[in-house]
Formats: sequence, C-alpha cells, structure tokens
Amino acid sequence: MAQAIKTAPNVEFTDAAPAQDDSHSELIRGLSQAQKSIDPKWFYDEQGSELFEHITQLPEYYPTRTEISILRRNQQEIAALCGPSCVFIEPGSGNCEKARLLFDALRPAAYVPVDISADFLRDAATRLGLEYPWMTVHAVCSDFSDDWTFLDNLPPGKRVVFYPGSTIGNLAPHKARAFLQRVRRVIGDDGGLLLGVDLHKSSERLNAAYNDASGVTARFNLNVLNQVNDALDADFDAAAFEHNAFYDENKRRIEMHLVSKVDQSVRYSGGQIALAAGESIHTENSYKYSVESFAELAASAGLGIVNTWVDDEQLFSVHYLSAG
Ligand code: AVJ
Repeated sequence: MAQAIKTAPNVEFTDAAPAQDDSHSELIRGLSQAQKSIDPKWFYDEQGSELFEHITQLPEYYPTRTEISILRRNQQEIAALCGPSCVFIEPGSGNCEKARLLFDALRPAAYVPVDISADFLRDAATRLGLEYPWMTVHAVCSDFSDDWTFLDNLPPGKRVVFYPGSTIGNLAPHKARAFLQRVRRVIGDDGGLLLGVDLHKSSERLNAAYNDASGVTARFNLNVLNQVNDALDADFDAAAFEHNAFYDENKRRIEMHLVSKVDQSVRYSGGQIALAAGESIHTENSYKYSVESFAELAASAGLGIVNTWVDDEQLFSVHYLSAG
C-alpha cells in the first residue's frame, strides 16, 4: 500500500494508482480487438473531468441535476438509513460535490473518496477537509474497478458505499453484478449501499442527453484520444474522428463511439492501429434500468432494496440497499 500523506489536519491522501504498464497493455488490448474499444475510465484526466463537469450543466443532461434534487429533498430519510457516524466510501468521487450535499444531515465519521484522477482528487479532498473539520477524509487515488485494497486501512464503523451518478451504468449487467457482490462483501451484514441509477425512458430524451446541441459531449468523447496519446505516446488526431452516441432500446444502453472519418493508420510506441473509414472505437456504454430490473440485478448479488427515491418525472432513481 502506498504511503499516505497529510494534506490538512484531518485529510489523508494515498496515491495507489495502478502501475502504468498494466493499464497500458489493457489499453492496447482494447484497441486491438475486432471492435476496438477504450475503457471509459480513460475519459477522466484533468481536461476530461472538467468537460464532464460541463456536461452535468447542460440543459439536455438531466441525470446530475435530477439526482442532486433527489438527494437534497430526501437527505433526512437517507441519513436515517445510513445511521450516524458511518464510514462513507465513494468510488469515483470526482469533485465530491454530491457527497457534500449529504454531510450536514449524515454526519459521517469518515469520508473515503476514491478516484483515478490524482490531482483533481487531492484538491477536492483537501478543500472538503477544511470545510468539514469534524470528519476525517481518507482520499485514495486508485482504479476501483480492480483494486479495493484501500479498504484495508479504513477506520472502524458502519460502512456505507456511495455510488451516485449512474456510474454503475458503465458496466454490462454481469460486471455490474460482480461489482455489487464486491460491495456486498465490503459493507458486510450491517452496512449499506446508496446508489444512483439512471432510468430507462424514451429514446428521444436519452439520445438528446448524449448528443447535446453545444457539442460538449462530443468534445468529452474526442478528448479521450488525448489521454491515449499521452499514455501510449500515440498520434491519434481527434479531427479525424466523429462523435457518435445512440440508445439501443433492446440492450437498454447508450453506446458512445468515435468513428474514423477516413482510412488511417495510427502509430503508438510499440505498434500501429489501422482504422477504415467508418470504423469505430467503442468508448462507453451507459446502461439504463427500471426500478424492477435493478432490484432483480441487486438481488442476484445478495443486496435488497430498503428504499427507492425517484423524481416526479421518473427520470432517475436513488436506492438504499443492504444485505438481504
Ligand atoms: C458518469 C458514466 C454516468 O453515462 O451518463 C455523460 C458519463 N458520458 N455523457 C453517463 C457520460 C457521456 C456518464 N456517467
């Protein structure tokens, strides 16, 4: 486990980012398949995290503001279910803004934000610690999709995992189940999971949310190529690709792709990648659920829904789950 450094009296930051070699070979593997792909975790460099924040402000992108209003409106009920002085663990915490909404009602003993974007996380965690001196903040830079060893060094107390934003939608159902099983082990018999899940709805509404008129989502999607260029010393030219996002009603998922505009060959340190005009790199899935279909998935991972909150338009759901 990497060494923790103190960035404020009540804030610890641990950089447990994965070895670069591992993530690089994973990236090359994805780009070498018949359907080329880049894992969506590569979106979130400094620039990408900023673009994502911009997305959350777009008129078409309803999930963030809807979830925030659900959390605000129901914070007392949520806090009562979590119980006082819990250890509040947030994988993929980003700017930590959603957890912040709950702190006054929740009063956790400790907050554990986990994110892949080191600088972004360290700054957000430090600011948070200064604002909430009565709790401790244990920030961990890690790829939580495969490494949860950060849990070894947590303070004792009831564990509540907070997974907002429908981030679980990035995972195919069998992977989502594995994730939920892991959360089930982490929280034990007495812990909880507070989770945001985007709801299945009309294709029009969903397609608009991922094809905003001002083109921010397109920039967010294309920006992943800069990350890949940095990581692999590659020469992807974003201008030679086009954003494509659509809702597949049967699979109940948004797919995002980067479509090559021309026949091209991209060089990286160690090889080359050929792309035909019209060929795509699959960059993200965003699965949508009904309350019922999500309850089924959770049950298959040993988790039961204790309560669900939905907005009036039934756009987004927040669930509290526990072992059951
Ligand atoms: C953060 C994964 C939930 O799927 O809606 C937003 C990311 N991608 N616009 C989502 C995203 C394009 C977002 N998640």
